[in-house]
Amino acid sequence: MSDPSLLPPVAVFGLGIIGSRAADHLATEGYPLRTWSRSARERDDFEADPLAAASSADLIALYLKDVPAVRDVFERIRSALGSGKTLINHATVDHATTEFLVEECAKLGCDFLNAPFTGSKVAAGNAALVYYVGGKAETLERLRPFLETTSSQIMEVPSPAAATVLKLTTNLITASTVQALAEGLKLTQANGISPETYLAAINPNACASALASMKVPSMAAGDFEAHFSLSNMLKDARYMLDLAERADLETPGIANTAEQMQRRNDLGEGEEDFSILFRQFELKA
Ligand SMILES: NC(=O)c1ccc[n+]([C@@H]2O[C@H](COP(=O)([O-])OP(=O)(O)OC[C@H]3O[C@@H](n4cnc5c(N)ncnc54)[C@H](OP(=O)(O)O)[C@@H]3O)[C@@H](O)[C@H]2O)c1
Repeated sequence: MSDPSLLPPVAVFGLGIIGSRAADHLATEGYPLRTWSRSARERDDFEADPLAAASSADLIALYLKDVPAVRDVFERIRSALGSGKTLINHATVDHATTEFLVEECAKLGCDFLNAPFTGSKVAAGNAALVYYVGGKAETLERLRPFLETTSSQIMEVPSPAAATVLKLTTNLITASTVQALAEGLKLTQANGISPETYLAAINPNACASALASMKVPSMAAGDFEAHFSLSNMLKDARYMLDLAERADLETPGIANTAEQMQRRNDLGEGEEDFSILFRQFELKA
C-alpha cells in the first residue's frame, strides 16, 4: 500500500461488475476514494450525490454502462470538471460520445483520458485489466501508477477515438467468436459428440482461444452468470454497426450476431452473460 497522503483523491462512477472491483483495489491501495452508482451500494465510500463525489476528487473514473449513462453522469458532474481535474472514461461508448468527451473536457480545461479495457469479471478481480489508453502522453504518464492499480497492462494508442475503435473491433471478434462457438457446440451435440471432445478438437486448431476454453464448458453447462452481460455486448454491437456506417461499410457478421442478441435481450435475458447466445437455437425447437 502507498502512503495515502501522497495519493490523489479519486471518485469512481459505476459500481457494476468492473467498477465495484476496481474501486476495491483503489481503496486497498490507499487512494482517498468516493464512489457513486445509480443504485445505492452499502460501501463506506459511497456518496449519493454525484456532484459531491466528483467535487471531492482530482481523478474521476467512469466505469458506467453505455452512452446514455456516460452522457447523463457527465452533465451531472460538469460543474465539478475543470483545471486540476482528470476525467478517465473506462466505459465502452460510441465514436461520437468519445469525441464529445474530448471536446467538452478541453473546453472545461479538464484533462481527459479515454481508457476502455479488455478483461472481464475475473481479470477485474485480479487487478489484471488491460487498458487501451488514448490521450495526452503526459497525462498518461502522470496517471500510470493509478491505472496500474487495476491493470496488468497499459497499451498507449494513437488517440481517444482510436481507443474506442480498438475496443469495439476487438469486441466484434469476441461476439462473433461466441456466436460461432455456440453454433459449433450445438452441432457437435446434435451429432452425439461431448463438449469435452469438441474443446479437445478446438485446442490444437488455429481457432483455439482463451474465449473458447471459457465459453464452451460454461455454455454446455448452461451457466450464464454474467462476466460480461448480453445487454452490454448488444450495445457494443450497436456501436460497432455505427462505426461501420461511419466508414460506409456493411458488416453482415456482426449485424446478424446483434440480431440474435437483440432477440435474447427482448426475452428478458439482458443481464445474463452474453454467451446466452447459445440459447438462440431453442427458438427453432
Ligand atoms: N464486464 C466486462 O467483461 C467488460 C469488459 C470490457 C469492457 N466492459 C465495459 O465496461 C463498462 C462497465 O462494464 P460492467 O460489466 O461493469 O457493466 P455493468 O455491470 O452493467 O455496470 C454498469 C454500471 O453503469 C451504471 N448504469 C447503467 N445505466 C446507467 C444510467 N443510465 N445512468 C447512470 N448509471 C448507469 C450501473 O449502475 P447501477 O448498477 O448502480 O444501476 C452500473 O454501475 C461497460 O461500458 C462495459 O461495456 C465490460
